[in-house]
Amino acid sequence: MSVLHKVDVKLSGKSYSIHIGRGLLHSPGQFVPFSLKDRSLFVLTDENVANPHGLAVYEGLKATGARSVEILAIPGGEQSKSLSDFERVVSWMLDRDVDRQSVLFAVGGGVIGDLAGFAASVVMRGIAFVQIPTTLLAQVDSSVGGKTGINMPQGKNMVGTFHQPAAVVCDMDTLKTLPQRDILAGYAEIIKYALIDDPSFFIWLEGNGKKVCEKDPEALARAVATACRKKAEIVGEDEKEHGRRMILNLGHTFGHALEAATGYDGRLVHGEAVAIGTALAFRLSVRMGLCAEKDADHVVRHLKDIGLPTRIDMISPSLHDAKEIMGFMVHDKKASSGKIIFILSRGIGNCFAADNVRKDDLEAILVHSMKKG
Ligand code: NAD
Ligand code: GLY
Repeated sequence: MSVLHKVDVKLSGKSYSIHIGRGLLHSPGQFVPFSLKDRSLFVLTDENVANPHGLAVYEGLKATGARSVEILAIPGGEQSKSLSDFERVVSWMLDRDVDRQSVLFAVGGGVIGDLAGFAASVVMRGIAFVQIPTTLLAQVDSSVGGKTGINMPQGKNMVGTFHQPAAVVCDMDTLKTLPQRDILAGYAEIIKYALIDDPSFFIWLEGNGKKVCEKDPEALARAVATACRKKAEIVGEDEKEHGRRMILNLGHTFGHALEAATGYDGRLVHGEAVAIGTALAFRLSVRMGLCAEKDADHVVRHLKDIGLPTRIDMISPSLHDAKEIMGFMVHDKKASSGKIIFILSRGIGNCFAADNVRKDDLEAILVHSMKKG
């Protein structure tokens, strides 16, 4: 076991640490900032992750002196972030030995992390939970910062809470089994941190991005640690997203609308939607006279070199209704008082939130991205 990086998330109410390394999964208790002895512990995982990762955590927890350890694997994928799965998870804990000292361990990607976090935030009026993310996307984004939630027929992440984990354990070895498509999807969230306000990280990614995507453990750990440091800093400043945290939604207003327009049917995974959304946010910034075209071209070239989609016409089968996509944006949580909030850019490493995007500019960017280019 080796811890390569430790990042602290400093919040006014509750601080915690992100542990990044290799072989950490087998002794998860070591990273929890209180004793697990005599507690009833729960491991929520999904069927793609249960063997070997969920079981490794389960076995590791049995050695902590806990009163009981239970494990539940639900089907993998976005469909599981639902009200019925939420009910299943809460009932599973209530039917067993849950009490206020219980701890829920989330072993999986963002779906398991968001669902477990939501369940932990409400069962017995809130119990501790630990994030053990096994996708790159979850390691660099969803496991940190305390946003939890489920999807509703009306939209993605429509019901949820802020509930910070007691610890986050990122084990690079879990990524060995992660399909390449999900590695690339995670990369779309990594590059976000560079584009927001860290041009030197963008330069590092240009040199090392391929190594990250080839799962080189050192490069991966460094990228994860840099991303987590940035997220910790932003969440530390604005835990509940009243201002600065909005910047983390670069590419997401577009991305969530594209995901919704595909009906979550597998044509797009979240990170792919964010990659197209990031390219669109830069194109929109150019159109609005905010960003130099060469910067947008630079970003798009890097995303393409890595193997991520950058245009709507790369979705197969593609989408053809710009107005429908714009309709989904109005319902997104990032709309405020009826105005849609976009993260725009004045160049690489210089992004900001804006609510003054004109409909005709938006529609033109979407239509252009739908045409075979
Ligand atoms: P996911 O949890 O669906 O995982 C992607 C796929 O990989 C699933 O099929 C899963 O079973 C499988 N998988 C996970 N780990 C694996 C491993 N090590 N080996 C093999 N297969 C593995 O999706 P995701 O991309 O991790 O997360 C997307 C979700 O995260 C979305 O619901 C999104 O809304 C949410 N999200 C939340 C936040 C937040 O701040 N809470 C931030 C970003 C994204
Ligand atoms: N993924 C965006 C946030 O955590 O705020």
